[in-house]
Amino acid sequence: SHNVRRAGDGILTVAGLGADALAREVGTPAYVLDEDDFRSRAREFRDAYEAAFAPLAGADVYYAGKAFLCTEVARWVHQEGLHLDVCSGGELAVAVRAGLPGELVGVHGNNKSVAEIEAALRHGVGRVVVDSFDEIERVAQVAGRLGVVAPVLVRVTVGVEAHTHEFIATAHEDQKFGFSLSSGSAFEAARRIAGHGDTLRLLGLHSHIGSQIFDTSGFEVSARRVLGLHARVVRELGLDLPELDLGGGFGIAYTTEHRPLPPAELATGMATIVERECRAEGVPVPRISVEPGRAIAGPSTFTLYEVGTVKPVALDGGASRVYVSVDGGMSDNVRPALYDADFSCTLAGRTSEAPPVLARVVGKHCESGDIVVKDEFLPADVHPGDLIAVPGTGAYCRALSSQYNHTPRPPVVAVRDGQVRTIVRRETIDDLLALDV
Ligand code: LLP
Repeated sequence: SHNVRRAGDGILTVAGLGADALAREVGTPAYVLDEDDFRSRAREFRDAYEAAFAPLAGADVYYAGKAFLCTEVARWVHQEGLHLDVCSGGELAVAVRAGLPGELVGVHGNNKSVAEIEAALRHGVGRVVVDSFDEIERVAQVAGRLGVVAPVLVRVTVGVEAHTHEFIATAHEDQKFGFSLSSGSAFEAARRIAGHGDTLRLLGLHSHIGSQIFDTSGFEVSARRVLGLHARVVRELGLDLPELDLGGGFGIAYTTEHRPLPPAELATGMATIVERECRAEGVPVPRISVEPGRAIAGPSTFTLYEVGTVKPVALDGGASRVYVSVDGGMSDNVRPALYDADFSCTLAGRTSEAPPVLARVVGKHCESGDIVVKDEFLPADVHPGDLIAVPGTGAYCRALSSQYNHTPRPPVVAVRDGQVRTIVRRETIDDLLALDV
């Protein structure tokens, strides 16, 4: 993140606060969030899309709350001028608690319950992204019962093979999300919604091809295809579709091999395609929205752990590897186990002149796949009591965390101007026992 540096004495600092002081004050493990970093990335996206689409019909940025959400973060998102994408009744409850106006909230999910749809419509959300014919009928029914007209987008599967892990690619045909473009069901969904004029209002189409993507060609093909359908719906159904959502999925650098695209480049590239396609199709340019989650939250946070044990293990061929166990693991970061994701780490409480040794940072859980950092060189004198920081854990780490092995979840602490503030408190053993009857 922007405000993480090594101080003169070798201690890692965030916004002027040392990792050793942080560990004493809030304990380990902890998610340490650089508040200015989060806010500035949110603003950077908003500014980039505002500028690129100002000559067209404008743009909105929806922060994808699934990456990481709590009440305080929802407030920051609002303060920085973004909208919020929620994908469950729980995330919606956070938005409501944070005081977000309904019109700034978009609702996702491929199987929203009647209760979730009702809560969303009662809060007056700006859009519900529908994902199936069953859901079109369900939203229409709930809206009818409440006496409101629900604003909806149609989630379209554009048939793009995104270059990312299979579990987080969402636009190829054989997966659960959206209405297929090629089979005609996306067009049919728009037609059905138009037929529910008293309960549904079709605002536009939506597409999202996956997550942790660097290759812009996937975004471009997807945008062109969804714009083609957009134009067809406008022409053939005589609807004016004021909006179009191009999804999120922008990759971040977990290791040095990743090269993220700056938001300004993404935004101007998209604006060019949108303008060109709309002109070619002879339809008005809709207001564009995007839904970045990881690119805003991911780089803002590092996880601070304490080393508990250090164990050299002999490898075939005479080499060896040092297993460094920390006081968390797959319960606070399941991404290595789930997606074979790569992270890096560094000693946080001191520097060392000791020669580097090949290390693997592992957690405290009862599985050999409980790996935090697969391969990293750490100083040979790494020892129990050392602090280890793992950067880039702001997205989909706390969000995917569990209480596996009855492990209380770490807190999220926000650091700004040398001050630390807990924005999600640490779970306690009492929290863990509270649900048992
Ligand atoms: N919009 C929709 C409809 C989505 O499904 C997602 C992510 C996003 C936006 C935000 O994508 P982002 O900009 O954060 O890439 N747990 C996985 C990632 C799952 C992504 C789910 N949907 C991981 O840890 O890599």
